[in-house]
Amino acid sequence: MRITIFGTGYVGLVTGACLADAGHEVMCMDIDAQKVARLKQGEIPIYEPGLETLVTENVGQQRLLFTTDAAEAVAFGTLQFIAVGTPPDEDGSADLQYVLAVAKTIGQHMEDYKVVVDKSTVPVGTADRVHEAIAGALGERGVSLDFDVCSNPEFLKEGAAIEDFTHGARIVVGTDSERVKALMRECYAPYNRRVEKLMFMDVRSAELTKYAANAMLATKISFMNEIANLAERLGADIEQVRRGIGSDPRIGYHFIYPGCGYGGSCFPKDVQALARTASQIGYDPQLLNAVEAVNDRQKSTLFEKLGQAFDGQLDGKTVAVWGLAFKPNTDDMREAPSRHLMEALWAAGARVRAYDPEAMEECRRIYGERDDLTLVGGRDEALQGSDALVICTEWKSFRTVDFAHLHRTLRTPVIVDGRNLFEPDQVRAAGLLYFAVGRGDSLRISGRPAH
Ligand code: UDX
Repeated sequence: MRITIFGTGYVGLVTGACLADAGHEVMCMDIDAQKVARLKQGEIPIYEPGLETLVTENVGQQRLLFTTDAAEAVAFGTLQFIAVGTPPDEDGSADLQYVLAVAKTIGQHMEDYKVVVDKSTVPVGTADRVHEAIAGALGERGVSLDFDVCSNPEFLKEGAAIEDFTHGARIVVGTDSERVKALMRECYAPYNRRVEKLMFMDVRSAELTKYAANAMLATKISFMNEIANLAERLGADIEQVRRGIGSDPRIGYHFIYPGCGYGGSCFPKDVQALARTASQIGYDPQLLNAVEAVNDRQKSTLFEKLGQAFDGQLDGKTVAVWGLAFKPNTDDMREAPSRHLMEALWAAGARVRAYDPEAMEECRRIYGERDDLTLVGGRDEALQGSDALVICTEWKSFRTVDFAHLHRTLRTPVIVDGRNLFEPDQVRAAGLLYFAVGRGDSLRISGRPAH
């Protein structure tokens, strides 16, 4: 079938490439002409494993088209996916201006029946507003055409987006219309073969499902981080506690890894937006607020542990940072714990030598040239002349370490590990001071216990 996608950001591009690869004819529309020109050449503006190949192949097969022409885009598909950004505005609510602008564009150009599919993560009630915007634009033209709006949230993880799209646990569609259900069935048929994954529900429930999923996952992480902080203070080991509770199938092993806080484009933004929605309707979202507050505090723990190691004397120190991206297999640094750490270090007068397998360019783009930031070409280089090492991202290539070498290279033998990559006994046996998350005592440089 013919499908139009508005927005060639992360979600739009993955959706477009996957649907084209499944045999549909897809046209992706973006107002950014430069971006569209690059995409036509198969140049991908983001790092996502497998995406470049998928785009290049399907552009070559002419199943995946790119355009900046709104009229052409609206005319192309019966399904019109809206996959544009919903950045947080000043108070943390989702800013709908781009979504509503696309809705208006569709209303201005459509000539026959369309199903408008909200793919962007949008607050409950947005489908109604999209409906109004389209109806308004049609009204201005003085035409009356039939159309439907449905909600079809995405559950893509960065770094595994193609796998998540093609083999996701469920495909949620919010609609009451049988016509829409049939069209969405046809759209997703290639991914709905052996197990029934399509879940039809009313529009508002579909919109809320997306927020509820992300808020639940964020809650699990904040909960574990809180227990980890308690474990640290109580002399327990969170990694053993994690295994102990994960074995209960009611709890499960997923998303209970303690760390230095969740980041990325979804959890922080969506938890905040859901909390704002709650407040706007007069409901006090106590748990959501706590999830956010615990996460903010967790991001500070890396800096605090360094402070403990050095008795608060970080001025003039140089700190090696391994990992800048908010998680492995992406170059995305949005809301990354590394940023929180580096900014705190700079404010305290320390310098940073940082390395990330993918996010170096992104880091350069965000922070530009600074005297107190040196971006180096490898993890060993980051250690040269550094007083301590902090691990912010659990890239696979950081997992194997020669601790004796590390001890020889660092000026002072301090490791702050925000991802619990190593066994504390092994690290400490090499004479290093090791501060992990929720894993018992370490010592200050001065020799006094840190906790
Ligand atoms: C998330 C959701 O998983 C996805 O379904 C949704 O569509 C978008 O948001 P993403 O942001 O790409 O995807 O990353 P994810 O792998 O879920 O990790 C989010 C953050 O949580 C990362 O910072 C990660 O380090 C952290 N995390 C994850 C933990 O700290 N502990 C865990 O146990 C799991």
